[in-house]
Amino acid sequence: MFKINENYLKLPGSYLFSTIGKKVSAFQAAHPEKSIIRLGIGDVTQPLAPAIIEALHSAVEEMGHAETFHGYAPDLGYEFLRNAIAKNDYADRGCDIAADEIFVSDGAKCDSGNIQEIFGLDNKIAVCDPVYPVYVDSNVMAGRTGIYDPSTEMWSDVIYMPCRAENNFAPELPEETPDLIYLCFPNNPTGSTITKEQLQEWVDYANKVGAVIIYDAAYEAYISEENVPHTIFECQGARTCAIELKSFSKNAGFTGTRLGYTVIPKDLKCGDVALHSLWARRHGTKYNGAPYIVQKAGEAVYSETGKAQLRQQVAYYMNNAKTILDGLAEAGYTVSGGVNAPYIWLKTPDKMSSWQFFDYLLENAGVVGTPGSGFGPSGEGYFRLTAFGSYENSVAALERIKKL
Ligand code: MLT
Repeated sequence: MFKINENYLKLPGSYLFSTIGKKVSAFQAAHPEKSIIRLGIGDVTQPLAPAIIEALHSAVEEMGHAETFHGYAPDLGYEFLRNAIAKNDYADRGCDIAADEIFVSDGAKCDSGNIQEIFGLDNKIAVCDPVYPVYVDSNVMAGRTGIYDPSTEMWSDVIYMPCRAENNFAPELPEETPDLIYLCFPNNPTGSTITKEQLQEWVDYANKVGAVIIYDAAYEAYISEENVPHTIFECQGARTCAIELKSFSKNAGFTGTRLGYTVIPKDLKCGDVALHSLWARRHGTKYNGAPYIVQKAGEAVYSETGKAQLRQQVAYYMNNAKTILDGLAEAGYTVSGGVNAPYIWLKTPDKMSSWQFFDYLLENAGVVGTPGSGFGPSGEGYFRLTAFGSYENSVAALERIKKL
């Protein structure tokens, strides 16, 4: 008789964004006349930039001819894309990352869920609280997180690093020593950042205690301030303690196209074993790479025209962020984020819980956001709005919220 992976049964509820999707669909079905503005999930709304569309068209054309047809992509991804990443995202920033340390994939979400597979089940993970749910959920599925306590909404074997207003939503070094540390900056969900010096402290700490930092740089394109690091590899010593995850979803609109990459430096070792070789072995077997046409589209992201077009898209979303941030502040809300990240993090008014505010906003303003408590217990009493909507919808949502 077959057995299931019982770890899945330990997961409370459904995936945060699925829960929200179901609630919004039910509300819309009950109130078909109401117009709803969706500023919940961090999904982009601007179309793919013309340089990317052009690259897609031409790659599709290539696939239609025997001489230029492409079958399976190489395990690590095509060299043309890995070289473009190595140059633009690392060498141009003075970081020492070689093209063969870059693994192209079908998105950072998959990689952030899958990367835990190369680590033993007895590793203890540390996460920011609140946190992007995929890091914890994927470790629950693997059986690494112990027992869930519904009263605290915490797992017994997870080290939570609270990120609250008191610490500017930036985690402090944990008292208990972790083996794997998940960090994401600019942060999802709070939109906070840390300086290069602060990140260096994490790198020094990880090297000292023998931990690995899994660094999610998905929102890097939104950094507007000096001294906020674009990659963990700007820090000395990161090559021996860090893995970096990167997405094409948020900077280039690939949420539906799917493309990302993971960097594992060859110096990152457990004894004699390079983690690079384990991830390469996994890519060989459980390939989650991207099709040729998508990798060609990814290459266009780094063309001069592509870069200019994408700077405009990022500026468009950041103008939304500023509009929402300033508007809510004027209306008396306590807000943060939105300066180096496309997320605005606000304190719920009148001591409402995060889910109470979710319902209140949906029912009275027709605006969908994400309850902060969905990202972890320290998110209770907070709420996230995304800047990834259209400008018109961002303004309209703001107006509706102001009238409440
Ligand atoms: C979010 O809204 O937090 C993310 O966009 C969801 C995701 O990337 O999976």
